[in-house]
Amino acid sequence: DAFDATGLYLLPGAIDSHVHFRDPGYPHKETWRTGSAAAACGGVTTVFDMPNTNPPTGTLDALELKLSAARSSYVDYGIHGLLGDDTIAHLEALVEAGVTSFKAFVGNTFGNLPAPTDGALLEGFEKLAPLGVRTVVHAENSSILSRRQKRMQDAGRIDALAHLAARPAVAEIEAIGRVLTLAEWTGARVHIAHHSAADSLFLIRDAKRRGVDVTVETCPQYLLLNTDDMSRLGGILRLNPPIREPRHNDPLWQALKDGTIDMIATDHAPHAVEEKTRSNIWECDCGFPGVETQMALMLTEVNRGRASLMEYVRWSAVAPAKAWGLYGTKGVIAPGAHADIALVDLDRKGVLSQHTLHSVSRISPWHGRLVHGYPVHTLVRGRFVMRDGALVEDALGWGRSVKTIQQMPTPRPLNTAHYTSAILTTPAGVRPTAEPLDA
Ligand code: NCD
Ligand code: ZN
Ligand code: ZN
Repeated sequence: DAFDATGLYLLPGAIDSHVHFRDPGYPHKETWRTGSAAAACGGVTTVFDMPNTNPPTGTLDALELKLSAARSSYVDYGIHGLLGDDTIAHLEALVEAGVTSFKAFVGNTFGNLPAPTDGALLEGFEKLAPLGVRTVVHAENSSILSRRQKRMQDAGRIDALAHLAARPAVAEIEAIGRVLTLAEWTGARVHIAHHSAADSLFLIRDAKRRGVDVTVETCPQYLLLNTDDMSRLGGILRLNPPIREPRHNDPLWQALKDGTIDMIATDHAPHAVEEKTRSNIWECDCGFPGVETQMALMLTEVNRGRASLMEYVRWSAVAPAKAWGLYGTKGVIAPGAHADIALVDLDRKGVLSQHTLHSVSRISPWHGRLVHGYPVHTLVRGRFVMRDGALVEDALGWGRSVKTIQQMPTPRPLNTAHYTSAILTTPAGVRPTAEPLDA
């Protein structure tokens, strides 16, 4: 059945390095079915799921539960395993069994996983460095200013200042510095999750210059929102790290453009509506859904002239493909090579609504936001998972682990010998001989 792509742009599907699909453990927040439907309808063809599920993805049994839940996915997926003091002994086995990468919750957040000790981080990095496996780090030092936070919480303060005091930028700066030091020392690959602060960019620039294998993501919320939005959105906007002051927005854009920040992820962190709207803001769960809205939000910025379409493609697909080693045959990074595609309408305007989200969590700080540019069709390995803006229900379970895909035959691996002979063939079809002309 033919379809009409007139007027649309063809982009590689987005690769979202950071989603929480909550499955197993919290089906009232999200499931693989709903989360991956949201991804499909957001132009996202591959997601990487976080390990703070129940049970956390730090044992072989927990990984088996996660992989079996992921079988209902509409889109392809990688699995971040848990790096913590209790999981160090299982890291290699987890990689063997299907984990693509790890996450270390150096800052306390949803799931209350204990932060790894520095010794465990060091040991974990030492084990993973020779395997070339990357660790995502939630880089915040939760112990910084905790007494000030507590005083403000006790006083019931819900203003932007209290929000920031709870997770000050210095907590992020300190943890990033520590993680980069350990990464450089061990030669491990690391990835800084949900980067929010302008002040720590110098540490990353410096580490990259010295050759540390660090990749960095930021999220639409840190680029487009700031503490001025707190009074309007309250508990909806609570997340870790927090939304920061307006002065952080522009440097994060600049860092994306100059390559200090590599990519955009969403930190899709769904919670039930009642968990986000409690009257005491300090009792609201942190995070909100984002996998379905990222592309429309970012294409809007492209239309506004804030980024080029090619820059967006670099941040949404090329850089994550490279960081996670996707679709690489002989070092060739080719996002879209498996026909992972988003067809987008750059002219379409509309208003984002939380009521039509495919996520269980139908609450979003983007509700009511004007957007200009939408994904219209999404294909995962050549098959529609969203068509004409609607989820293709039949594609339930079409998603595969990226580890499995890497073992599938690559469509026409680049054959250099073939290309060389094609170039040497004259238009008349006469192949030049290898003999020197003056022989
Ligand atoms: C995330 C969650 O809800 O799992 N919340 C958040 O505020 N970012 C946790 C995380 O990303 O570390
Ligand atoms: Zn995190
Ligand atoms: Zn997260």
